[in-house]
Amino acid sequence: MKFFRRVLSRDSLRWCRTIRRNDLRWFPTLLYAQDEIGFLSDEVIAEIAVRLDLSELEVRNVISYYSMLTTQPRGKFNVQVCTNISAWVRGGEKILEHCSKNLGIGHKETTPDGLFSLEEVECIGACSWAPAAQVNYDFHESLTPDKMDRVLEEYRKSGKQ
Ligand code: FES
Repeated sequence: MKFFRRVLSRDSLRWCRTIRRNDLRWFPTLLYAQDEIGFLSDEVIAEIAVRLDLSELEVRNVISYYSMLTTQPRGKFNVQVCTNISAWVRGGEKILEHCSKNLGIGHKETTPDGLFSLEEVECIGACSWAPAAQVNYDFHESLTPDKMDRVLEEYRKSGKQ
């Protein structure tokens, strides 16, 4: 708990204080905490539950529903490729396979240098521009293997600066 209190910013703590228990206005608390610490550790989940007067199970239920939230450490750039129906008919699985080859990792794996993680995910709300992928908070749409390579290369360059 000490680590969490020391690391979490005022923004995160302000959300904890100003929200009520039975609605999801507390959802940003999870995003703030994840952005600061990298993932939602057992320690962080316990602290959020205490501060919001929730059970840890209630917090974990929300975390497990949203693919942008994780209880495990990820790479600096988390590549989420949608293979749900709209994306699937437009080549989403090929994009996922291509990312896997490019990065040398599979679903829910992280590159040895910690730069990239890869995940196959359900709809990310970009069906009209499928196939699509989300890297952290950025969307990349109408993807082809070549375009995906360029996207990954940009992140690779920025991650090494
Ligand atoms: S099905 Fe892939 S973005 Fe909606």
